[in-house]
Amino acid sequence: MPTRAEVLRELGLAPSWRLRARNGVMQAADAGDAGNDGDVDPRRARIASLAFDALVDDIAQCRACGLCGTRRRTVPGVGAPDAAWMFVGEAPGADEDAQGEPFVGAAGQLLDNMLAALDLARGNDVFIANVLKCRPPNNRTPEPLEVDACRPYLDRQIALIAPALIVALGKSAACTLLDVDASVASLRHRIHRYRGTPLIVTYHPAYLLRTPLDKAKVWEDLLFARRTLREITPARAES
Ligand code: URA
Repeated sequence: MPTRAEVLRELGLAPSWRLRARNGVMQAADAGDAGNDGDVDPRRARIASLAFDALVDDIAQCRACGLCGTRRRTVPGVGAPDAAWMFVGEAPGADEDAQGEPFVGAAGQLLDNMLAALDLARGNDVFIANVLKCRPPNNRTPEPLEVDACRPYLDRQIALIAPALIVALGKSAACTLLDVDASVASLRHRIHRYRGTPLIVTYHPAYLLRTPLDKAKVWEDLLFARRTLREITPARAES
């Protein structure tokens, strides 16, 4: 008796994802949040079924990596649950860890200014999240294991919000969402796709605090993002 997976494969209906192990954490390699045949990581499948409030609660209880031992607060994200724009950063810093909200420190002030220049504001057709929901000690770069453990939350947030456009702020967000290892410079100026949603890459606001001369590049990227949104989904761009 052939298995269901074998039948689906014969019919050319096999799912486009397959499981792979990365740093010991199993994950769906391509599109789906949950699969069939019971071969998907049960934690990922459970998170992929959560509604918005339950997701926030789950993040608050999460102990999937070592960052739960050093965080003060989890930082799930902030904004409109039906936002057209979604901005994704790297991880909470000290201010965010204390307040439970992303981008509330100096980099956040700059992000708010960038949003205002686009006539946007956090919470108003904008959702802001990070790859990691807990602060890495001393703001170190996230470890691959931490990214893998937290990734189901970001995937679920994006699925629930269904933004018209994602802006990846910096290398961590871009490389995580696109599953590549590349520089921000090499990823700019292109419309990428995250599970079908257009995604544009620009520099992280914290980088701009250190390199203010590159602010013009980010402004260029944000105008490109707005143009893309207007062209791809005009109704949502004006909402
Ligand atoms: N940097 C980020 O990537 N995210 C924050 O929330 C704050 C600083």
